[in-house]
Amino acid sequence: MQKILVTGNGPLHGEVLISGAKNAVLPILCATLLTDEPVTLRNVPNLHDVKTTKKVLEGLGATVSYDPERFGSGPDSEVTVNASTVNSHVAPYELVKTMRASVLVLGPVLARYGQAEVSLPGGCAIGSRPVDLHIKAMQSLGADVTVEHGFIKAKTRGDRLKGAHHTFEIVSVGATENALMAAVLAEGTTVLDNSAMEPEIVDLADCLIAMGANIFGHGTPRIEIHGVERLHAATHDVVADRIECGTFLVATAMSRGSITTVNSRPETMDAVLDKLREAGAEVTVDGDRIHLDMRGKRPKAVDITTAPHPAFPTDMQAQFMALNCIAEGAGVIRENIFENRFMHVSELQRLGADIRVDGHTAFVRGVEQLSGAPVMATDLRASASLILAGLVADGDTLVDRIYHLDRGYENIEAKLSGLGATIRRVD
Ligand code: EPU
Repeated sequence: MQKILVTGNGPLHGEVLISGAKNAVLPILCATLLTDEPVTLRNVPNLHDVKTTKKVLEGLGATVSYDPERFGSGPDSEVTVNASTVNSHVAPYELVKTMRASVLVLGPVLARYGQAEVSLPGGCAIGSRPVDLHIKAMQSLGADVTVEHGFIKAKTRGDRLKGAHHTFEIVSVGATENALMAAVLAEGTTVLDNSAMEPEIVDLADCLIAMGANIFGHGTPRIEIHGVERLHAATHDVVADRIECGTFLVATAMSRGSITTVNSRPETMDAVLDKLREAGAEVTVDGDRIHLDMRGKRPKAVDITTAPHPAFPTDMQAQFMALNCIAEGAGVIRENIFENRFMHVSELQRLGADIRVDGHTAFVRGVEQLSGAPVMATDLRASASLILAGLVADGDTLVDRIYHLDRGYENIEAKLSGLGATIRRVD
């Protein structure tokens, strides 16, 4: 099994190219199932989760021209999905259990073919993560849904789903995406209240609009969709990954360095940029570039409370916890989205961090210096936080179970090496 070896090695400096967003490209790939014409995506990141989504789409019968090893990735790379050959309505357990986002084929397959069977995803390292909100949204749109033998089985009553007014009980990114994708082909108008407002949802809606959908209000809590009978071919550039970008910015702040992120989307990152400024970083924005400079200073600890966009994202919580571990002062971190997203705490403590957890709250007191040690990654963002801690720790940190990292960070060790880090993959 591969591991990552990080050696603490002074400030990061330089420029880093930000990839397309994992959490945008996954739903958008699923959305290509809504048309039998080809959809071409650019700025598709080279990630394990994208490969899993390709397998899910291929399992349904679609063809996906994704081969980053041959054609590369990055802003100019193209991936085309042709769903005209879809001949199955089933997303099997073997794939869904490895990637929960596979449940995002439910809405598109149901809307286009009148039936869908998607395995329940099962357990997850960061929380129980049920899919009841996805199911309720499909029911509001007129589907009959049962859960049998570990599968969600959904069927439309007539030929098509029916537009409806649906209010999500709690804000859910995935349920909003599934409902949005289902509603674009429903008969009549759908209003989705208490929708998630994440930039990745806006990007999904933009792609659907390019495919011919009528969507209004995306990026607000009320999305209105006027259903159309069919969608058509389109080309779409995937939005930049604000979490990958934030991870590099935090790494640089921790190392007291200076960087410029390129091909980023600063307007999607207000809460994170504000916290970096509060931590003492000079942050300026110039088009798609973010410049961060610590001027050699130690960061100051910050308080973090995670909540749905536009508040502070849960996907940046672990990285800011790593920052607090070496910061001046103490910070309080409240995790409000997932019930079990502090798995990195005990690993950070192995590096000498001073953290006390009480329920969903972590109290972190900065120490002068962490000390490198072998650690175990437990989920994607936890893995990132351990690498960040290792970058500023004394000596070597060996991060095990880095397959989590490959799910959501494109070539992180090459990008960090380019900024001057001492980091490499070892077998
Ligand atoms: N929830 C329910 N029922 C549902 C759906 C969600 O109770 O049917 C709960 C969840 O258990 C959670 C809360 O609602 O407590 C919010 O979950 P949400 O549905 O918003 O999360 P998600 O769609 O499963 C996406 C991202 C996550 C990110 C969250 C929150 C993708 C593929 N995943 O998950 O990304 O943390 O939104 O922003 O978009 C990551 O990238 O590391 C990651 C975990």
